[in-house]
Amino acid sequence: PENVGIRAIELIFPSQYVDQTELEKYDGVSEGKYTIGLGQAKMGFCGDREDINSLCLTVVSKLMERNNIDYGSIGHLEVGTETLLDKSKSVKSVLMQLFEKSGNTDIEGVDTINACYGGTAALFNAVSWVESSAWDGRFALVVAGDIAVYAKGSARPTGGAGAIAMLIGPDAPLVMERGVRASYMRHAYDFYKPDLSSQYPTVDGKLSIQCYLSALDHCYQLYCSKAAKMLPLENGVKRFQLNYFDAVLFHSPYCKLVQKSLARLMLNDFILTDKKEIPTKYPGFEKFSDVKLEETYFDRDVEKAFMDLSKKVFEEKTKPSLLLANQVGNMYTPSLYGGLVSLLISKNSDMLTGKRVGLFSYGSGLASSMYSIRVTNDVSAFENLTKNLSHIKPLLEKRRCISPEEFTKMMELRERTHHKAPYAPEGPIDGLFPGTWYLHEIDDMHRRTYKRV
Ligand code: ACO
Repeated sequence: PENVGIRAIELIFPSQYVDQTELEKYDGVSEGKYTIGLGQAKMGFCGDREDINSLCLTVVSKLMERNNIDYGSIGHLEVGTETLLDKSKSVKSVLMQLFEKSGNTDIEGVDTINACYGGTAALFNAVSWVESSAWDGRFALVVAGDIAVYAKGSARPTGGAGAIAMLIGPDAPLVMERGVRASYMRHAYDFYKPDLSSQYPTVDGKLSIQCYLSALDHCYQLYCSKAAKMLPLENGVKRFQLNYFDAVLFHSPYCKLVQKSLARLMLNDFILTDKKEIPTKYPGFEKFSDVKLEETYFDRDVEKAFMDLSKKVFEEKTKPSLLLANQVGNMYTPSLYGGLVSLLISKNSDMLTGKRVGLFSYGSGLASSMYSIRVTNDVSAFENLTKNLSHIKPLLEKRRCISPEEFTKMMELRERTHHKAPYAPEGPIDGLFPGTWYLHEIDDMHRRTYKRV
């Protein structure tokens, strides 16, 4: 099969949020720390009526309905998540309820776990299935969802929640480019969830940023060298550079880190430039010509210089992808794909046909990859994909703003009742968006049942 990639996308987020300006006041931090310092405006969160299963049930139902997809046409389904309710039973197996009516039980795939990277791993596996000898002509479905919550403290404003579902198959409007994927995987304790009784991670914030930026450097340089061999570059150009991406998307723990990451790619290009060319290509930057990437993760001078240098490129190629990250927060596994959706619904979208989008996926622990998507030249195929995302912006505006006090109470309720059985959820269901699946009850054997609004 040719042109394997993403044929349809659905994204969901909670119907309620807490405002980051109000959260700054409530937490007693300086004004602007969350909104300017981290670049976050609103944070979506779930009460006790939603869990990872309900989010994934909702996103898959909506994808199938909105795009008129037959449940019998799916042959592979994989879920990427780090929101675990069960050490054995997969979220995928819960989703099989949706396929019952169709009689389709012949669906490969289970769950894939590694922090925020699971969605990308599921996507790579789905693409591999379509390209493999096991493929039977049907579509693959990739689901990524998480409820990102942190204990009280400096990490709490970087939470969020949501889910994404993507239909994978041949002749797609968003084609995964072959032979250029670059990964960087190693052992690190930057963010992990060792306490199986808690929904909160153990986080070394500073180390997580260093790991993220270092993974970005490695993936980008490897991507560039693979791309230089695989992709047609202009005559005489040997190195793939930032300017060959028309848009660059990143996993977004918070928007400010993404802006720093784009600057970091420019720093990588700079470091790989022949020293003789620096005065002409980067006038005024000669003083940085000996910097080493590993010494610059927290170097203020380097950071500022390259943030300034890349400002225009950031506005053009990355900022349009940050809408959902800014409005909902870090969704963990769906975060990067929220970036893709944001780009597709941005005003730049009609300029996207035929263009190349670079994507960087990062999951703590750590697993990371950079890859690229080529957007089809076929305007009507592209519009078929994007027209089914036109509800997203209006839906963001329909959410309810909840006070930080109320938000904190809901977090405490989730803490108290996490893994409780039997349990009858207390939260109201009338605030949920139409079509949302919600947790009905948990019986004394921890079996969860769901209903739909
Ligand atoms: N106005 C404007 N900016 C401000 C203000 C203010 N009043 N106060 C602080 N800032 C800036 C700071 O200067 C800093 O920006 P800078 O680094 O560009 O200088 C930023 O706001 C954050 O302030 P810090 O003091 O660095 O924040 P803190 O250390 O309290 O927490 C952190 C930030 C570490 C990101 C924390 O939220 C966290 O641990 N989050 C979870 C981990 C995470 O998301 N890691 C990223 C990769 S791993 C992953 O995806 C989970």
